[in-house]
Amino acid sequence: MNTDTRPDTPRHAASQPVTGPDAPAPAVPTPAARGLFIAGTDTGIGKTFVGAGLAAAAVDAGLRVAVMKPVAAGAERTAEGWRNEDALALMAAAGTDAAYADVNPYCLPDPVSPHIAAAAAGVSIDVAALGAAAGRLAANAEWMLVEGAGGWYAPIGPRQTMADVAKTLALPVLLVVGLRLGCLNHAQLTHAAIRADGLRYAGWIGNQVDPAMPHSAENIAWLTAAIGEPFALVPWSASGRVPSSAQREAFATALRRLAQL
Ligand SMILES: Nc1ncnc2c1ncn2[C@@H]1O[C@H](COP(=O)(O)OP(=O)(O)OP(=O)(O)O)[C@@H](O)[C@H]1O
Ligand SMILES: [Mg+2]
Repeated sequence: MNTDTRPDTPRHAASQPVTGPDAPAPAVPTPAARGLFIAGTDTGIGKTFVGAGLAAAAVDAGLRVAVMKPVAAGAERTAEGWRNEDALALMAAAGTDAAYADVNPYCLPDPVSPHIAAAAAGVSIDVAALGAAAGRLAANAEWMLVEGAGGWYAPIGPRQTMADVAKTLALPVLLVVGLRLGCLNHAQLTHAAIRADGLRYAGWIGNQVDPAMPHSAENIAWLTAAIGEPFALVPWSASGRVPSSAQREAFATALRRLAQL
């Protein structure tokens, strides 16, 4: 087990908070990192839920927030074109009117692995184009939240994975751990992969996706020893996509701790 839980040495430019006499005082300090790449231990473990919760907390704190879902597999056809529900949820939470094509440059209709969805759509994913879209979004925001697709090594093409997207965007990585059986292995593997890929591991948030998980406290204690103190533990709630007050409190706590990164 890796017991070195110290944060990695920052190697990313700090954000430039709005300064000057007219700058509003944010309710929490601007997070030192210019944004986060949100990775997860698996698909369906709460990356969007946590990302949207953090975006809403940051908006409440007075920050201009950009969001991005660079590659999405699974979309609905609308009058405006194909739309993915994760991208729309993140945009709604951030209250952004950014161009959808920048938020979600690759919106693939089929709800399957992105490399299969891309092949089915006749699309080749160009990670450099993702970097350009992220740059446009970042230019109008103080903080950026980017949600991956699936897990760290979810394939996006014949040879590339979501890790290549994260490397191109070069943001510190926030790991969302879906607290359920199997998460200890998934969390440790993902943590190791993030570091092996040369990215800065920011820390983790535990999301209680299984309200009946036995020995939840013991699992969290093991994770804390392995990958560090969590920024927050998000409780389970039956309220669906609308966060409960306890969940909103967890997101606000995480944001305060992220501000000290
Ligand atoms: N703490 C929670 N309490 C209750 N429901 C939750 C919680 N976290 C997530 N959910 C629900 O679990 C489902 C999966 O969450 P979410 O869509 O955020 O996962 P994801 O990791 O983003 O999945 P994907 O890999 O498809 O992007 C959603 O219906 C979400 O509302
Ligand atoms: Mg999602």
